[in-house]
Amino acid sequence: MLAGEQGPAIQKAMEIVVALGKIYGATKLVPVTSVQVAGVSYKNLGQAGLDFLREWAAEGARVRVPTTLNPAGMDLQAWRELGIPETFARRQEAVIEAYRAMGISPTCSCTPYLVGNVPGFGEHVAWAESSAVSFANSVLGARTNREGGPSALAAAITGRTAAYGLHLDENRLARYLVDVRCPLRSEADLGALGYLIGQKVRNAVPYLTLPSFHPSILPLKTLGAAMAASGAVALYHVAGVTPEARHANMLAPDAQRMVIADLSPAYAALNAPVEKIDLVSIGCPHASLEEIAEIARAVEGKRLQAALWITTARQIKEKAAEAGYMATIEAAGGRLVADTCLVVAPIDALGFRTLATNSAKMAFYAPSHSGLQVRFGPLEQCLEAALTGRMKRET
Ligand code: F3S
Repeated sequence: MLAGEQGPAIQKAMEIVVALGKIYGATKLVPVTSVQVAGVSYKNLGQAGLDFLREWAAEGARVRVPTTLNPAGMDLQAWRELGIPETFARRQEAVIEAYRAMGISPTCSCTPYLVGNVPGFGEHVAWAESSAVSFANSVLGARTNREGGPSALAAAITGRTAAYGLHLDENRLARYLVDVRCPLRSEADLGALGYLIGQKVRNAVPYLTLPSFHPSILPLKTLGAAMAASGAVALYHVAGVTPEARHANMLAPDAQRMVIADLSPAYAALNAPVEKIDLVSIGCPHASLEEIAEIARAVEGKRLQAALWITTARQIKEKAAEAGYMATIEAAGGRLVADTCLVVAPIDALGFRTLATNSAKMAFYAPSHSGLQVRFGPLEQCLEAALTGRMKRET
């Protein structure tokens, strides 16, 4: 591949894989069983990124393992209704076409593990999208580094990645023991906890002991997303919950200990001094069917005062439509928005100024990436804000 015997597109991909391997001191490559590609929104890619993808596809780049895509900059079907400008939409469609030409399914979701891309324990994969990387490593026990857009794509085209970082046993040991002593009452509390841990440990691996809460698997997506946003955590362990922590002692002998007994610093950091709410965003990472069902029950028969966008994967949106949840949410004035996320959509063009969210990751990024003033709180409070157009400042 590196010698160009399989063509220039594969040669280019192998050059990227090998260059990364050299930088990080890898001694071999490992085959990957799946890839999650990021760098999909035209808002982030721009014309240069689109040209790069088109050129690679035209050279004959094709993926050789199952490959899924991160969110795009818009709902690929309902972009007009959402007010996305046509010029942006056409360019976004061209990006998706380039990926399609490479054989990539346009799942356009940051929760590929909810739509069929579910690597098994110990499998090597090459995923981009920090929240998905965190879920794959920590909750599924698969092995991936935090890939970037081109490096993930290169792994998909070659079917291989360089064996360094989290592909190796020794780098999966935790360097921090995080003793959590406060109650965790909601998914927002898990996000707040993740925010505080990420800030402290940066890109290290933490091992958490949670005394008062036994999270089911899905709320862990919120915890991992926050840690990966305020820090660069790609793997964490939760005592008695995540798979590697059940199989082995994952604490490094010299692990530093830290105690978290209060989540209020996270709520203080992630809340702006606003009460009037224009838009409520749920689904960061993308909402599961269970989350959508819960929202449908909460808004049934009511009328929303603020816009409510629930971002999710298209497959989940279709299931929500079949189950009747979508009709209930739309009757109240909310929307299920597929294929996209508020951070990568051109949201500043849509006139929203303030946002309420139950996601610490969204609360962390929305001010800088989307120019919004943000309130962060549990789902219940966010839905109350959607119903009244206001979020009281007591959190
Ligand atoms: Fe997904 Fe966007 Fe949040 S990519 S994790 S919905 S910031």
